[in-house]
Amino acid sequence: MVGFLLILHELEPKPVIDTLDIKQTQVNHSRLAETDFTNLPFGKYFTDHMFVADYEDGEWKNFEVLPYGPILMSPAISALHYGQAIFEGMKAYRLKDGSISVFRAEKNFARFNRSAERMAMVTVPEDLFMQGIAALVNLDKDWVPSAENYSLYIRPTLFATDPLLGVKASSTYKFVVLTTPTGPYFNKPLRVKIETHYTRGADGGVGAAKTAGNYAMSMMPTAAAQAEGYDQLIWTDAKNHEFVEESGSANLMFVIDGKIVTPEIRETILDGVTRDTILQLAKSLGYPVEERRVSITEVLEGIQNGKLTEAFAVGTAATITQIAEIGYQGEMYTLTDPTDRPFSTSIAKKLNDIRYGLVPDEFGWNWIVA
Ligand code: COI
Repeated sequence: MVGFLLILHELEPKPVIDTLDIKQTQVNHSRLAETDFTNLPFGKYFTDHMFVADYEDGEWKNFEVLPYGPILMSPAISALHYGQAIFEGMKAYRLKDGSISVFRAEKNFARFNRSAERMAMVTVPEDLFMQGIAALVNLDKDWVPSAENYSLYIRPTLFATDPLLGVKASSTYKFVVLTTPTGPYFNKPLRVKIETHYTRGADGGVGAAKTAGNYAMSMMPTAAAQAEGYDQLIWTDAKNHEFVEESGSANLMFVIDGKIVTPEIRETILDGVTRDTILQLAKSLGYPVEERRVSITEVLEGIQNGKLTEAFAVGTAATITQIAEIGYQGEMYTLTDPTDRPFSTSIAKKLNDIRYGLVPDEFGWNWIVA
């Protein structure tokens, strides 16, 4: 018992790194001037620098902002073989007054460590997570786009680096933050297919963790749906494929009978930051909100009888993306005109106004880093 406790203790990082001593090595030549900000496919162009830190011998060390580029690794690292790898998606915005803000960083931080715990990985201390991101975004602040619906996407990732093929939780990890200027993830309303064979998350599984395998397993069923003319899937519950869970890279919301309805958070669903943001905004504006199980029948009948007036995907990358059509068992259900959706249109504007500093940030969501 004592031995077991000691092992657990060794994996716990030292709780506080007061002020990080971050080494900075800057690029000799910035790629900024060569980057076409009018053509930014998601995640394709990285900023000049990245942040890295290592967890070794029971502590976090080697904090460094350095030129973005390859990292030399053993081909035996356990992240590659056994998938101990997690990530987050966050965004930095250029505010109206010229300052740079990272949106709701503490919420992403909390989810990052929940994912780490589920995958038996070391957690990242808050000041390491925050100061690493702040140092990187600050150095690359000229990369933050200013056009509407554009931002700097921030990708913190943690992966296991023990070069060992034995199946066990790694004792060493690398924390890396990448940044990439980005526009809208989807450029049109979506045609989505309700998936009733493949499963994203089951009770007791890892659906709530932002772990690499959840995205790997979605690729084959999504590609199959895309071959049928769909853009994305709607995942359903693993037991009976009866209830809507989430979409491929975003949570789902509906307006049914004038209420904002969204699948409740369970261990099969990612606890989305944008989802939470929209629910808070909706409540503050007096809209009725329901977080509960949403059946496929309710959605399809709602489309047919006119009670379901809006459906949209919400996520950091996706922001708010309208759903135009839903396919189920070979039949296509066409929703209301995506350009005439009062709730999601007004909430998207309210959200953008806060994120770009056009109205006071009454929720305290903007963290000014530059
Ligand atoms: C995000 O919205 O940040 C995501 O992680 C989705 C991504 C896989 C495109």
